Amino acid sequence: MSAPKLLILATGGTIAGMAGSATRHEYLPGQIGIAEFLGQAETLALNAQMTGKQIANIGSEDMGPVIWAKLHRECMAAMTDPDCDGVIITHGTDTAEETAFLLDLTLPTSKPVVIVGAMRPADAVGYDGLRNFANAVRVACDPAAAGRGVLLVMSDRVHAARDVRKARTRGTEAFQGFPRDSVGLVTPSALEWFGAPWRSDEAARYALTETLPDVPILFIHAGMTPDYVARLLAPKTAGMVVCGVGEGNMPNPVRAELVKLAASGIPIVRASRLDEGLVDREPEDDANGFIAARALTPPKARVLLQMLVASGVTDPASIQSAFDGR
Ligand code: SIN
Repeated sequence: MSAPKLLILATGGTIAGMAGSATRHEYLPGQIGIAEFLGQAETLALNAQMTGKQIANIGSEDMGPVIWAKLHRECMAAMTDPDCDGVIITHGTDTAEETAFLLDLTLPTSKPVVIVGAMRPADAVGYDGLRNFANAVRVACDPAAAGRGVLLVMSDRVHAARDVRKARTRGTEAFQGFPRDSVGLVTPSALEWFGAPWRSDEAARYALTETLPDVPILFIHAGMTPDYVARLLAPKTAGMVVCGVGEGNMPNPVRAELVKLAASGIPIVRASRLDEGLVDREPEDDANGFIAARALTPPKARVLLQMLVASGVTDPASIQSAFDGR
């Protein structure tokens, strides 16, 4: 049997970064092109036929709708290309979870789509990029990786897009999942799934547009005054995510401002600034017109709200159902 055919979409990040020294802390992300990266990967003799495409070469703090649209177009084409068995996206770790979740919401689940990064640049001692990439290849070559949505592979773990977040600024064990920590364990030669695919043959949930609705995140802190809400509002603001304290809480005067916004038709989603920040509905949400983010982090709650508003879903009950789903 011939080796699986993979499309590798490169966007930059530390996995393509260079420090100019094996031990220096400072480095530049997005320095190595996809041809050079695949040349290095070739030395691993992985059992896959790989075609590379450079989509961008940036630090992922600059990731956004224009590159998301390019990635989405490439992935959609790969879904129907008989000569492609799976897609890997190399990505900076800082916003990998947002790209993963956005694609998770906007792609069908028929073929594996795997995002991978690194915490150490390519010329650093202990570079983790090639190990993570070999693991990503192992996952993307497995037909059982389809039907699980977009996956993120780091430090020998496979995470589902909806669950995963970067939890540490340093060290190779930088990612965690919540509420599911990970959905599988992987090495370059072994892959163990914790359960069967849960989204087999699912169509894309939302269409992706290049311009996304304006949805700011309001970060709540002690001593916050209600004027912060107005400071975030722009004429085009179409929704707001509250990065609340505890279980999505906020000072009463801030809440009063947000209740007025919700009444004017701007959906307000309550999320938490905590790492494991499950936010359930509370009785006052009905009267306030608020939505509970459940287990989604504020950046992911923002992505989901953008998709909903862009598809014309703005009533709180329908938005809540989308946040309740998996
Ligand atoms: C980035 O996100 O591009 C820089 C950080 C990293 O990739 O680890």
